[in-house]
Amino acid sequence: MSGSLSSLYGGRGVALVSGMGSRVRDSESREYIDFFNGHGAALFGHSDPILVSALQDAAQGIWSGGAGFESPARAELADALGAFLEGGRVFICNSGAEAIEAALKLAVALRPGRDKIFACRRAFHGRTCGALALTFNPKYKTPFKSILPEVGHFKPEELPELIDERTAAVFIEPVQGEGGVHPLEPVTGRALSDACAKSGALLVADEIQTGLGRCGALLASELTGLAPDIVCVAKGLAGGLPIGAAIWKGALGDFPPHTHGSTYGGNDLVARVAVAALKLLREKNYAAHAVKLGEELRAAIRAIGSPAIKEVRGLGLLNGVEIEPPSADIVRELQGRGLLALQAGPRVVRFLPSFAADSADAARAAEIFAGALAAVAAAR
Ligand SMILES: Cc1ncc(COP(=O)(O)O)c(C=O)c1O
Repeated sequence: MSGSLSSLYGGRGVALVSGMGSRVRDSESREYIDFFNGHGAALFGHSDPILVSALQDAAQGIWSGGAGFESPARAELADALGAFLEGGRVFICNSGAEAIEAALKLAVALRPGRDKIFACRRAFHGRTCGALALTFNPKYKTPFKSILPEVGHFKPEELPELIDERTAAVFIEPVQGEGGVHPLEPVTGRALSDACAKSGALLVADEIQTGLGRCGALLASELTGLAPDIVCVAKGLAGGLPIGAAIWKGALGDFPPHTHGSTYGGNDLVARVAVAALKLLREKNYAAHAVKLGEELRAAIRAIGSPAIKEVRGLGLLNGVEIEPPSADIVRELQGRGLLALQAGPRVVRFLPSFAADSADAARAAEIFAGALAAVAAAR
């Protein structure tokens, strides 16, 4: 082979080749409980028959017609997403970072002359330049500082005091994912929403990881006191196919003509699968399943009773366990024992089960986690 992938992601050392529901298999036929799910993109689990069938149907039709042409699939998706906010308008793109970029440009366009943009300490909003400016971790930003727009980062509870008539927008994750799995206190979310409403600053909820039922509601904003003007979604929206969207209250206005766009955004193929995914989410009442399963998982992990566990936190199926040993060691050990998880910082293990996971998966995952903690402790 002549090409070689960049080493940006580090290596897990296995090739995942198939999946069904909450399980995946590697090229050696080893099975794993998947609480990683492609960084949370496989929100409905693997090979969901309804999504597979939607994709097969969509593949028979036009794949990419172009944004200037009408598309029944894109229109249906825009209607479904627009219903998230009052009179919602929608921009459809291909990833989370692109949804954030769209929200950032929109906020600047809708609030000309305002020169302040705020985000939170520990925030993660993506790695393209606008999204990277909103992201907090200097590890991701430092080499690119010279080309990033200015953003002020503060603790959520500090922000209401700082939001004023010069503030264009405030970006916030209802539950910080990458930053360590920290749910926003509803009282803080309400204070932030009030401060934005009073000053005319736009409140942007980054629901890329938290939204679409994962946290136990269509939008986790509902659970954390946030009343957003703009919402960004991505990850599970088309069950794991690339897609993102920025949704905003129609009364705010729109992008000036021809100031934003995307070749693939809202293409017919992915739009059809996203429409099917949103229908599935509603019909199966997966948000309620997420609440119940999340509670079971957190209870089972707390019941391990290990002194290595400092805190178990989360909302629905977005969960973090703060531990004493390095999370990288535990994530590696879990994989060796048949459970896929991911880090959320150096001391937090993140579990992102899909809607396909059940109580038996949660109980087994907690058992594997207990074994991994004990093994890592014994080896240290
Ligand atoms: C909260 C949040 N915002 C933005 C992003 C960026 O999304 P993407 O990787 O699709 O660009 C992510 C991805 O993990 C995320 O979790």
